[in-house]
Amino acid sequence: MKTIAKVNGDNLYLRLLTEKDVNQRYVEWLNDEDINQFLESRWSKQTIEGVRDYVKSMYDSPGNFLFGIFLNEGGRHIGNIKIGNINKMNKFADLGLLIGDKAVWSKGYGTEAIKLATRYAFGDLKLNKLVAGINICNAGSFKVFIKAGYREVGVFKRHSFYKGNFVDSVVVEKCNLDNIVDKQPLWVNKNSSGISLWNKAKKIIPGGNQLLSKRAEMFLPDQWPAYFKKAKGVEVLGLDGNKYIDMSIMGIGSCVLGYANDTVDAVVKIAIEQGTMCTLNCPEEVELAEKLIKLHPWAGMVRFARAGGEACAIAVRIGRAFSGKDKVAFCGYHGWHDWYLSANLSDSKNLDGQLLPGLSCAGVPRALKGTSIPFNYGKIYELREIISKNKGEIGVIIMEVERHKKIDLKFLKEVRKIASNIGAVLIFDEVSSGFRISIGGVHTLYEIEPDITVLGKALGNGYPISAVVGRKEVMEAAQDTFISSTFWTERIGYVAALETIRQFEKNNVISYVKDAGNRLSAGLKNIFKSSGLKIEIVGLASVPIMVIKEDNPLVVKTVFTQEMLKRGFLASNVIYVSYAHSKGIIDAYLEEAEVVFNMIAASIKKGKLKEMLEGHVCHGGFHRLT
Ligand SMILES: Cc1ncc(COP(=O)(O)O)c(C=O)c1O
Repeated sequence: MKTIAKVNGDNLYLRLLTEKDVNQRYVEWLNDEDINQFLESRWSKQTIEGVRDYVKSMYDSPGNFLFGIFLNEGGRHIGNIKIGNINKMNKFADLGLLIGDKAVWSKGYGTEAIKLATRYAFGDLKLNKLVAGINICNAGSFKVFIKAGYREVGVFKRHSFYKGNFVDSVVVEKCNLDNIVDKQPLWVNKNSSGISLWNKAKKIIPGGNQLLSKRAEMFLPDQWPAYFKKAKGVEVLGLDGNKYIDMSIMGIGSCVLGYANDTVDAVVKIAIEQGTMCTLNCPEEVELAEKLIKLHPWAGMVRFARAGGEACAIAVRIGRAFSGKDKVAFCGYHGWHDWYLSANLSDSKNLDGQLLPGLSCAGVPRALKGTSIPFNYGKIYELREIISKNKGEIGVIIMEVERHKKIDLKFLKEVRKIASNIGAVLIFDEVSSGFRISIGGVHTLYEIEPDITVLGKALGNGYPISAVVGRKEVMEAAQDTFISSTFWTERIGYVAALETIRQFEKNNVISYVKDAGNRLSAGLKNIFKSSGLKIEIVGLASVPIMVIKEDNPLVVKTVFTQEMLKRGFLASNVIYVSYAHSKGIIDAYLEEAEVVFNMIAASIKKGKLKEMLEGHVCHGGFHRLT
């Protein structure tokens, strides 16, 4: 039995028709000469009984989906659209449209109905191609299909009967481009341009590049393509012309709309034409400040920078200036600056549990020892202990709101209470969590207000921009301390951020990435269950993280990355889901991930996992590159 599926659109919805939907009005459409002349069933006069039989037979048939088209406003049934004669093996089907209610002709409803049915056919029914044959005399219908993105592919000679003659039908079709993934195995070429460039880079750039998380060693030593020529949506073109689908860190979470988003790039190009640097300030800076204050109603002032870590350093400086106290209690990852790394001066493992293990702090002044003290998420007693051991000295509490662990509101509220009691400035670092499950910081979804929140990464969809958003009286302290930089004034970051936020609002991006992330997590959980692998999924809905609990987690991770790369995917144990990760791409990834994880499970059972490695094991944290 089919469930009565509903497909929702802006003006219409589609629902599978049942016998109950067949009424006199419906039968009258079918008998109307303007409509009847284009129907397959044009030969006979329609009756309620006959149409009911037809609708029932369609409903009972697994190869046909006859949808009624209903107006959202008022629920009026205005026509039908049928995904028919489904060929399951080749994933083809026919599409037939009938707008029976002549009062709504030429209102664009046909195009919308085709788009909705196509979405259902490609997404839910997983079909790859829809074809429609349109009577050559039915120019209106042809236009409607073309508007819906179909293309003309040929003509059936003498296929339709019209006004007593056989006439041609134009054939239009649409393919599910999402499922066209280049699946040819990309055998890793160890002498590829990317790998040799990376080896050269390590000799002239300490650490090879500017971000630990983009080192080839963090993914697949000696095999990772390392450099890109072009990136668009979720597609990445390597230096040797290999195309990959990015199912990993997506520019380390900076591109929620997908790479090289057309409209963000368009506003950036306009800014470039108009000049991005000047003696005078760009007005977009004020517009963005206003927008961020609107998104965080508790806040009253904003400062901007370009990177997340520097924005955290600004926030900590403002916090210290406001509270008049030096010491910082922190939880989570907040960048590379002295105030943060100094935590490892007292104990080299102080930062290990926060995100990145092994962070070395050579060069950080020893005088900072004991000034930044970590506590773990959810462990309020650790914060209490810090406060009691450093009586009257903690001026700033900075923390991530949600990362690996689900948001713990009770804990956050306790931290808020403690910060207020001791006169410390509470900073929520939402550089990674912002613009992932709400527009702005995650905390805006809950009844909890920090004194400052820090945003970065996704804010400019790949263009550098970060923000320190805070309560007015706290932010005023920035006037008493020197915080200033040339390139915090350039225009691109501001216009990119304004357009990014506009798109988040217009396209309901948050809901899309949350759903897509949940779909990925559910698929992966099924794979782990059926393969018996001990891997758990944690993290924000739109950033699923696989926590590998097998004996050699880094070997499992490396083999997964290695085998997925051969299948055309940049893959890791973290997926930063974007608006450009279509359902088709997610399903193609899950299909390949299932094959790879089953191979891994079988090798583990035989005790031969390490034999699958074709190079070195990936790094799990910070290491000196030799
Ligand atoms: C929570 C958090 N804060 C700060 C940073 C540092 O941001 P950036 O790398 O842009 O300096 C990061 C980066 O991953 C982060 O996740």
